[in-house]
Amino acid sequence: MKIGIIGMGHVGATLAYTLCLQGLAETLILIDTNEAKVQAEYLELSDAVKNLDHDVKLVKNDYAALVDAALVVFCAGDITVLETATDRLAELRVTSKIVAAIAPKLQASGFSGLVISITNPCDVIALYLANLTGFDKSKVIGSGTLIDTNRLKNRAGREDVLVIGEHGESQVALNVTPDIEKQATGTGWEIYAAKHHTAFGIASSVARIIRVLKTDTRELLPVSSYDEVENCYYATLTELTLENGVVQRVLPSLNNLETDRLTQSIQTIKRNYLEI
Ligand SMILES: NC(=O)c1ccc[n+]([C@@H]2O[C@H](COP(=O)([O-])OP(=O)(O)OC[C@H]3O[C@@H](n4cnc5c(N)ncnc54)[C@H](O)[C@@H]3O)[C@@H](O)[C@H]2O)c1
Repeated sequence: MKIGIIGMGHVGATLAYTLCLQGLAETLILIDTNEAKVQAEYLELSDAVKNLDHDVKLVKNDYAALVDAALVVFCAGDITVLETATDRLAELRVTSKIVAAIAPKLQASGFSGLVISITNPCDVIALYLANLTGFDKSKVIGSGTLIDTNRLKNRAGREDVLVIGEHGESQVALNVTPDIEKQATGTGWEIYAAKHHTAFGIASSVARIIRVLKTDTRELLPVSSYDEVENCYYATLTELTLENGVVQRVLPSLNNLETDRLTQSIQTIKRNYLEI
């Protein structure tokens, strides 16, 4: 599969490495405005690929090469913004400008595949990217709450848990106590406090989405997808195919409190979108 990654920072570089190791990409197109960084990642990934039993063709800073790519992962941003802020929304002022700079280039490249958007605030940026590129919204998704669900599974010590709604503070954890939910929601910040970024969890989550697409297993994953009625992206269980993108959104059965919380989460995302 030919995959483009826009933004070769912590997340983009880790994802590129993960995709190489897992044999999920035959060609990787690495894009970043920081020429030195993208060149360094290109060189190091080239070194790593030499140890693999499969080849990965690496291309750098070539939007035109995206024309026949199956997927683009959007993870451009500036994580240093969080040094002085404590909410993913604080990133919006910066990341919305980055989306506005990249969307016309992505559109002009002739790319017609599926976009997976990671950049925060994830649900708001997915909608903004879809709107600015004019791409079919069923072919633009956000990485959503797959990462949050993994964190919740680790904290709860169980597999039968799920996070839906915003990838952010208003997310809704199902089937756990408030205490476990609080611990899980704090995980990203706990990692960030020591590392000043997070990368392994999200890179692995996106690699999993890509594996599901590549193998066409149609596993329902909690990714952020477009709800036409709400005109909003938020995470719920979603069935994806490479050809059509989102083919089905499935809302798990919710009690009254969970329904209210999801409504509030959607309102939060919509309010945040209006801040752009
Ligand atoms: N959704 C999630 O679960 C999740 C998890 C982790 C990180 N993130 C988000 O992912 C984003 C990236 O995080 P990071 O740690 O890799 O950040 P980073 O600052 O390390 O990297 C961002 C990269 O984007 C590049 N960039 C900026 N503007 C660009 C442009 N116009 N064109 C091309 N490249 C451009 C920068 O040069 C930089 O290399 C952030 O918004 C972060 O909050 C989301």
